[in-house]
Parts: sequence; C-alpha cells; structure tokens
Amino acid sequence: HGTSKINSLGHLEIGGVDTVDIAKKYGTPVYVYDVALIRERASGFKKAFEEAGVQHQVAYASKAFSCIAMVQLADQLGLSLDIVSGGELMTAKKAGFPMERVHFHGNNKSPEEIKFALDLGVGCIVLDNFYEVALLQQEAVSRNQKVDALIRTTPGVEAHTHEYISTGQEDSKFGFDLSSGQADKVIKILQEDTNVNLRGVHSHIGSQIFDTNGFVLTVEKLFSQFTRWKEEYGFVPEILNAGGGFGIRYVEGDEPLPPEDYVKDLIKAVKKESEKANMDVPEIWIEPGRSITGDAGTTLYTVGSKKDIPGVRRYLSVDGGMTDNIRPALYQAEYEGILANRANEQAEDHFAVAGKCCESGDMLIWKLALPEADHDDILAVFCTGAYGYSMANNYNRITKPPVVFVEDNQADLVVKGETLEDITKNDLPLRSKERV
Ligand code: LLP
Repeated sequence: HGTSKINSLGHLEIGGVDTVDIAKKYGTPVYVYDVALIRERASGFKKAFEEAGVQHQVAYASKAFSCIAMVQLADQLGLSLDIVSGGELMTAKKAGFPMERVHFHGNNKSPEEIKFALDLGVGCIVLDNFYEVALLQQEAVSRNQKVDALIRTTPGVEAHTHEYISTGQEDSKFGFDLSSGQADKVIKILQEDTNVNLRGVHSHIGSQIFDTNGFVLTVEKLFSQFTRWKEEYGFVPEILNAGGGFGIRYVEGDEPLPPEDYVKDLIKAVKKESEKANMDVPEIWIEPGRSITGDAGTTLYTVGSKKDIPGVRRYLSVDGGMTDNIRPALYQAEYEGILANRANEQAEDHFAVAGKCCESGDMLIWKLALPEADHDDILAVFCTGAYGYSMANNYNRITKPPVVFVEDNQADLVVKGETLEDITKNDLPLRSKERV
C-alpha cells in the first residue's frame, strides 16, 4: 500500500527508497514513514469537509506520533493539532506550529501545563473536569487573558472496536457526563465567565472504529442536549468536535473506510440534526491520529536468533520488540510483515516473531508466514506508524530507535536514535560509595 513496492533487487522499497539501504544506513530497529501516504490520508479528511462546504478543523491527534518534523508536516497539510501534555505542547512550540490551531486535551492537566498553554496562547482548551475549569478560570482572570474552550462530554456511546454499546451512564475517567447534569453545571459556570469563552462541545467515543454508526449516534445524542441548552441557558454550541478513532487496516479482516467516508456520514448527521433543531450548522472538528500516520509507518528489524520447538512453534527473534511496539503485548494487537531483503520470495513456513526483552509476552507477531528466515534478514513490520514510537519505552534499558521520513526517493532522519550514553544521561551516582 502507499508507495511501497518490491524493487528490481527483490527488496521492499518505500517512497522510492530501498529499505535494506535504510537499515544499513540508520541501523535497526528503525521506523520508516511514507510521507506521501500521510499527505493522502490528511487530504482525504479535509476534502470531505471542503466538498460538503462546512466549516471545519481536522486536528491531528499527536499522541499517535509526535516529533518536530511530524508536527511541521501537520502544519504544512493544513491540519490543527490535538495535544495532551506539556511535552506534546513543547513539541508544537519547537515545531513553530501556529498556536491558534492547537487544542489542549487531557483529564488531569496540571496547573503548570495550563499556565504553559496560556503563555503560548493555544487556540482551545478542551475542558475535562471541574477542577480544571476552576484552575483555568483563575489563571485567565489573573492574567486578564481570554481563552476559548470546549467541554469534553461523555455522550453515553461506547465504541468497543467493532460494535457499539449505547450506555445510559458512561463510566469513563474523561469528560463531563451528559445524563447526570455535569455538562449543564459547567455550562452554567462558564456562561458567567468573561475570560473563558465556551465555544462548543467535544466527544470521543473510542479508537480503531470501522463504521460510522457510533459517530452518528453521538451527534444525535449531543443535539438532543443542544436543543435543551438553547432553551434553558441560551447556549448554542458553535463547534461540535467528534473526536478521532477512525480505524485502519492492520491485518486481513480489518475493513476500514477511506478517510472521506468516515466523515461524510458525520457531516450528514450534523446537517440533519441542525436542521431539525433549527440551528446553524456548527463547525465540525475531528481528531484523527491513527488514521493519519498508522499505515504510513513501517518498522525494520534485523533477525537474530532462532529457536525451533518441533511440532510446536518456530521462534524468530528480532532486535526490537515491546520497547518500540508495545501494542501486541498490551492489546494483543496484530501485525503483518515480510522479509524486506527477500520481498519477492514465497513464504515457506510460519514463524513467531519475538522481541528481545526479558519477558515472555514480548512477542510482535505470533504467526507470520515467511520464507525460511535467518539471522541478518531484515524484517519489515507494517502499520506501526501510530502508537509505536509514541509509546516506545526503555524497558531493559533498550534505546529508542530512530525515525526516518521517506518521500520522492529521499530519506530524511527526523528523530535520532538513542545511544547507550543517552540511557544513563539522567542517572546520578549513589551519594555515598562506601560500603556499609
Ligand atoms: N481524540 C481523543 C480525545 C483521544 O482520546 C484520542 C485517542 C484521539 C483523538 C485519537 O484517536 P485515534 O484516531 O488515534 O484512534 N494507545 C492506543 C490508542 C489510544 C487512543 C487514545 N485516545 C493504541 O495503541 O491503540
């Protein structure tokens, strides 16, 4: 998919660059991003809104994959940016991302993070709880600064990947509950506030969702509140933020929609409900993360040791694992892969691809059909572009891999790999080295 193909040497090529050369030059593991595919995904979302003629913002959920180059690419693509921490905000700042298009999320923003956001003038704070409302009000008053806000609501639509369960009472750590009057209370508080300008409502129903029913249901539930809010408080949301969660294809059987189709039904539902409620169509915001960068990312590993348990399983260990991709261990997430240096060879057997961490659960793929693989082969694992690098960790004091962008026959290093020196750079020695 994307610009991936097999070249004349029988190697996997992405963006016109031979992945075997990337592995040689930057070492393995290494994350490789097909930039053209990121562009295509982003423009798919934007096109649907433009064609429908509705005011919109497509905010890239940077938790999926954030680094300075990615945030700069998001800016270039005309996306807004969803951030959830001081670290993601600092990345946006260093990338020179326009702060008016930054949306700040999170269920426990610290006072320091709120101050940092106000210092930089972020475009919108997505309020999540009463503690935060009070912190923001206080801070905005003391600076005499105006700030736009949305409230995050839990509309009682829970997406369990494939199916939806409509719950009366949402049990979630995020946002204001719609049914018990929490959202009403915060609206009343903010109606009185001259610094915090409540502009609309947000909801996010889940992740890796393959159809649009849950989004449509959410819009219907929100609008039933909008009508009441208009009558009771004179509050008419100007913005409806439907969150992210649009699914991608990791393995056969995953059947995602193209980006534009995910949002077409959403736009239709918002228009229909606005008309029913006799309201202006609000701006529609969305926050795709996975569906922007997920399938654009490929991780390259070098195969090392092998262990055959006759009649049971053939283990193939690679030089990465749960430190660069924790999703299989954490969510039983599934992936597909090939030998990048022997991409035109037929599969001969099934292998269990293991990581190198001291943990039995550190498996990347339990059953992968490959040619007879051996040490020094390069394994490419697909669709690792979301929540791979961003959830990377230093378990076993393993270094985080570099990130390379490829496009138009060129490879650019955008995040350097950590070195062994980096591993101990924040360590301080024991105060007393004397034995007791
Ligand atoms: N907006 C909000 C408020 C969110 O909480 C999330 C994801 C997104 C947008 C983006 O969702 P996406 O389009 O990427 O599905 N670590 C997990 C995914 C956690 C998602 C958390 N929130 C994984 O690796 O599958």
